[in-house]
Amino acid sequence: LAIVGQLAGGIAHQFNNILNVIIVTADAILVSNPHLDEETKRWLKNIKEEGRRAADLVYRLLDFSRHSLVEKRKIELFSFIKNLEKELREFFPPNVEICIERDQKSEYSIQGDPSLLRQLFLNLASNSKDAMPEGGKFILGLKELTVDEGNMLSFSTLSQGKYIEVKIEDTGIGMDEETKKHALEPFFSTKKKASGLGLSQVHGIVKQHRGIMKLESQPSQGTKVIIYLPEYETKVKNENSSGYKYFC
Ligand SMILES: Nc1ncnc2c1ncn2[C@@H]1O[C@H](COP(=O)(O)OP(=O)(O)OP(=O)(O)O)[C@@H](O)[C@H]1O
Ligand SMILES: [Mg+2]
Repeated sequence: LAIVGQLAGGIAHQFNNILNVIIVTADAILVSNPHLDEETKRWLKNIKEEGRRAADLVYRLLDFSRHSLVEKRKIELFSFIKNLEKELREFFPPNVEICIERDQKSEYSIQGDPSLLRQLFLNLASNSKDAMPEGGKFILGLKELTVDEGNMLSFSTLSQGKYIEVKIEDTGIGMDEETKKHALEPFFSTKKKASGLGLSQVHGIVKQHRGIMKLESQPSQGTKVIIYLPEYETKVKNENSSGYKYFC
């Protein structure tokens, strides 16, 4: 699998170099011929734009192959998210409020790959941004979940043990049943110029972290992505961990 990943990575690099030549050449023709007719200019701009889109796609595929072997270390998710907050604040327009919630626990440690987890949050934030053109709320929530004999039926695909529940929620346009059904498939998109890789990449990352993910969404009711990741180590459970603390 690692060799296949390396091979795909090598081809993707070469492919990207070719795309760059196409983009740069189209740009050079545009810049050195300011008197071209409007239609030719439009064609050249199209070549540049589509070339960039293809290059972006190749980068994302490259990301899949680069991370076929995951480098995991202990990550405390609350500080991780807090560190991402500034980047998210700049990413969202001012009419989107960002909330970070957690239960009474002070530590949410998992074993993870920081660059993959960053990608996961950014892909989800990007979807939420697209879903809230008129603004709204982007909520990140952390909670501990213990799967035991009492509730294992509700979490049938998880084995017994402790998990961190990561909730990524928005108050955007939501999804209809058909969209929700296909949302995790690679290349599925309802947007005009998108590659449809965001959620499938998120799903891949969750699986690489031995977790599961759920989508809850309805048209005009916002979207909730819930991810369960195995906790780093067993801790004494805080019995008062019912309510959320809000940090809006
Ligand atoms: N938060 C959300 N709110 C509403 N619809 C969503 C949300 N997240 C995903 N979707 C729907 O699921 C589809 C697939 O999402 P995904 O992130 O995989 O691709 P994309 O956003 O269309 O493209 P890309 O992420 O590659 O730019 C989207 O086109 C959209 O219809
Ligand atoms: Mg997306």
